[in-house]
Amino acid sequence: MLKPKILKLKQKSIETQNDVHAPLVEALEKFYKNPMMQFHIPGHTGGRAIFPEFRELIGSRALVLDTTDEFDNLGTLHPATGPIKEAQKLAAEAFGAQRTFFLVGGSTIGNLSLAMGLTKPGKKVIVNRNCHRSILTGMIISGAEPVWIVPEKLEDWSLWGEIEPKNIEKALKENDDVALVWITNPTYEGVVSDIKSISEICKKYDVPLIVDEAHGCLWNFNKNLPTSSLHLGADAVIHSLHKTGGSMSQSSMLHISKTSKFNPDEVERAIQLLQTTSPSMLLMASLDAARANLESKRGRRQLKRAIQYAQFIRKKLNKIEGIDCLEPTENYNLDLTKIFIKMHGLSGKRLESILEIDFNIEVESASDDGVLLLINIGNTKHEIQYLINSLETIAKSNYSDIYYIEKRKHMPMLTPKIIMKPRDAFYSEKETIPKENAVGRISAEVIAECPPGISILLPGELITEAHMPYLNEYKFIEVIK
Ligand SMILES: Cc1ncc(COP(=O)(O)O)c(C=O)c1O
Repeated sequence: MLKPKILKLKQKSIETQNDVHAPLVEALEKFYKNPMMQFHIPGHTGGRAIFPEFRELIGSRALVLDTTDEFDNLGTLHPATGPIKEAQKLAAEAFGAQRTFFLVGGSTIGNLSLAMGLTKPGKKVIVNRNCHRSILTGMIISGAEPVWIVPEKLEDWSLWGEIEPKNIEKALKENDDVALVWITNPTYEGVVSDIKSISEICKKYDVPLIVDEAHGCLWNFNKNLPTSSLHLGADAVIHSLHKTGGSMSQSSMLHISKTSKFNPDEVERAIQLLQTTSPSMLLMASLDAARANLESKRGRRQLKRAIQYAQFIRKKLNKIEGIDCLEPTENYNLDLTKIFIKMHGLSGKRLESILEIDFNIEVESASDDGVLLLINIGNTKHEIQYLINSLETIAKSNYSDIYYIEKRKHMPMLTPKIIMKPRDAFYSEKETIPKENAVGRISAEVIAECPPGISILLPGELITEAHMPYLNEYKFIEVIK
């Protein structure tokens, strides 16, 4: 039989960890080693029909592997079958969940799906003010109404702090038609709330709890990190594996806990409504790979080392005059791998640019006050030492901040005044007006700076003078007519 010449690629054997099993990675490897003639999508046909410069840049192998579900015995995502189903099952076991779903549109798709599947028009959702915009977008889709919880404010740092359990209880007492409590833990900067107490309160009021743990996916793999909400009574938990877990950008997981009030099949149906019908095998295999890596001896070593590096950096920086690190207090715990630092005399934005331009260091984000550094499982000892040395050099130099004084303010810590339900506002007649005329009008759009994606304005919110410093870069705002 004709055996077509298909793809001439060097077939180097892929290094695998022998203490863990990654079914999707293995299926993809098999697919790669047994090429077929492709009369199916994607049309670039293993990279042959793609802009050559792009192929050169990312490598042919990545393009050969860029396939979707359905083909070549790789399984399907919706419904989950074959190696994809097996990989999701192993992920559920690794994280201690009843069911785990792979997301290829980030945690955003997870939040949207939960809102769509589990909330209804007119139902109330207790949500923290600093939630990610995708939760609010989910409420626009479903018609649910936010009931705001305002977390503690860490005034000295201009950061949001922990969510107080008593505020959740107050909101539940005041609203008898709450469908869900939906909170973010940890904050972007790593501040951890008392999820155990919050989940006990939710159980007392018989209201399910969703925790957007986008930034906490490593917690299940080292006891020196906070405990995942999956083990503290949450019903559903979302993890952005791509943020810190080692998978590729856009890949996340949604877990249904073992004690969940939610029906996993119902959640799956909601995800299926919103997720792509051509999920990238590369993204899904990268989730399988990240889970396997975190479970493997090597991955556990990497994580242990990252935590030790983070502790080392904190110790060193706290000794340098002019640098302050956000540390855990008796009021709140902290994910130590997220290091928020302030440098005396420099705004965070200025420090960010000095690090970038003069030291070739890119930080996770910068606010008016400081910068956020993520100590990742892939960082090396050399990088850690270079970072410390660079920060020490900056602290001892005479960098000026004048250029940045008029910069836009970064992190809104306002409590929104909601005049209309987000969904009603979004579908109202709208007009676009100059920002100067917007005070007193009702916003028709979500405005949120990413990262961290916390809203400055959302549909249905009254625009006030207090919003203005956060909107410097906007000339026009969409408002209700
Ligand atoms: C708390 C939180 N939830 C959800 C998201 C959305 O995650 P993704 O980028 O994976 O869609 C983010 C993104 O920054 C986030 O910070």
